[in-house]
Amino acid sequence: MTTLDLNDPDFVADPYPVYAWLRDVEPVHYSAANDLWLVSRYDDVLAVLRDAPGFSSDLGKAGLDDNPFNPAIRIPRRLARLLDRLPPVRTLLTSDPPHHTQLRRKVAKAFTPRRIAALEPRIREITERLVDDLDDDLVRDVASPLPTIVIAELMGIPADRRDDFKRWSDELVNGLLTGGSRIRMARSALAVSWFFARTVRSRRHRPGGDVISLLVTRDQDGDALTLAELVNFCILLLVAGNETTTNLVSNAMLALFDRPDLWRRLGTDPDLAPAVVEETLRYDGPAQGLLRVTTAEVRIGDVTVPEGARVLPLTGSANRDPRHWADPDAFRLDRPAGDHIAFGSGIHYCIGTALARLETRIVLETLARRHPHLGPAGVPERIQSPVLRGLRTLPVTIRPTVPGTGGLPGRAAQIGGRNSSVR
Ligand code: HEM
Repeated sequence: MTTLDLNDPDFVADPYPVYAWLRDVEPVHYSAANDLWLVSRYDDVLAVLRDAPGFSSDLGKAGLDDNPFNPAIRIPRRLARLLDRLPPVRTLLTSDPPHHTQLRRKVAKAFTPRRIAALEPRIREITERLVDDLDDDLVRDVASPLPTIVIAELMGIPADRRDDFKRWSDELVNGLLTGGSRIRMARSALAVSWFFARTVRSRRHRPGGDVISLLVTRDQDGDALTLAELVNFCILLLVAGNETTTNLVSNAMLALFDRPDLWRRLGTDPDLAPAVVEETLRYDGPAQGLLRVTTAEVRIGDVTVPEGARVLPLTGSANRDPRHWADPDAFRLDRPAGDHIAFGSGIHYCIGTALARLETRIVLETLARRHPHLGPAGVPERIQSPVLRGLRTLPVTIRPTVPGTGGLPGRAAQIGGRNSSVR
C-alpha cells in the first residue's frame, strides 16, 4: 500500500504529478502520515464541499492541538492546557449551520461587489506607489504589502500599525498552515485579539466609514455581532485574505514569466487580465486543499470513510482533473468562467473573491504596462505548505535580461528542484 506524505518537499514543490496519480489510482486516499483522507477528483471534491451536514468545518480542538499538515509539530503542553480552558474559537470558516448561516448573513454586507468595486481607484493608487518602489523582489515589494495595506485601510486601521498587522497575519498563517512556531502564533493571536477588541469598542462609540464600523451597527433585523464574533471575524479577514492574495499574484507572475508572449500582450491589452487571474486560480491556485471532518460514516466514490475522520478535498487537484477539464495542464484563457473551485464551493464559498480578483487584476495590469521587460532574476523560494501554494520570495529584474543569464524558463515546475514522488 502506498502512502503519501504531504510534507514531502518534492510534493510541496510540484504536487501536480502526484494529484494525477491519485485521481487515476486512488481517488480517495488515506494518508497515514497526516491522518487525512485525500479526495482528488473534481466531482468528489465538489460533492464534499457541498455536503455541509456530512462534512463539518468545525474542526474543534483538532485545529489547535496539532498541526494536521505536519504531525511532527505539537503544541507545547503548557500552552495546550491554557487553550483548553478557553471557550472554543468559532469563526465563520470553522463553524457549521445554523451558527454559520447567521454569522455569514451578518458579515456579508461588508463585502458586496459594489462596496469592493468602489475601492478600485484607491487600490490603483496604492499599487502605483508600490510599483514605483519595486526593487528586486516582487513578493516583498508589491504582492505582500498590497493586500495588507488594503485590508488595513478597509478596516480603518492607522498606517502606523501596519507592520504589526502584517506580522500578526504572517505568524497566524505560518502557525496554522506552514509548520511555523505555534508559540509565536498563540502570542500573535492574543495580541491581535486584544487589538481588535479595543478597536471594536472604540468604533461602537465613534463609528466611521470602515468595515468594522459597518459591522458594529445593527442590521435591519436588529441583529448585531457580539464582541467575540467581531474580533474573530477581523482576525479571519487577516488570515484568510492576505497571504492568499499575495500568492495569487506570485502564482500568476510565475505562469506569465513562462509565457513571455502573453506578458507582452497583457502590456498592450489590459482586458486580458481578468482571464489571466481566473486561469491562474484554476491552474495554480493559492488554496490547494480544505479541511473537513466527517459527521458520520460516508461513501466517497468507492471508499467508505469513517465518522470523525479528517478529509482534505484537494481543490488544486480538482482544478486539473481531465474528467472535467479539456487539456487541464495547459494555461489557457478561453475556458468557461467561474468553473474552477479555487475559492471553494457551497456555504463556505470565499467571501473575499471580488477583492482578491480586483487586487490581482490591478497588479498584473500595472506591472505589464509599466515594466514590459519584467523577468525572473533568480530562484524563488516556495512556501513550505501542502495547502497554501505560493512564494516567499520572487527575485525579479525590470530590465531586459540577456538570454541565458537571468531568465529561468519553466520555473514553475523547477522551484524546489526534484520530481515529486509517492511512497
Ligand atoms: C486569491 C485569494 C483568495 C483565495 C484563493 C481564497 C480562498 C478561499 C477558500 C477556498 C475558501 C473556502 C474555505 C472552506 O471552504 O473551508 C475561503 C473562505 C473565506 N475567505 Fe477567501 N480566499 C482568498 C481571498 C480572500 C480575501 C481577500 C478575503 C477577505 C478580505 C477572504 C475571506 C474569506 C472568508 C471570510 C472565508 C470564510 C467564508 C465562510 O466560511 O463562509 N478571502 N477563501
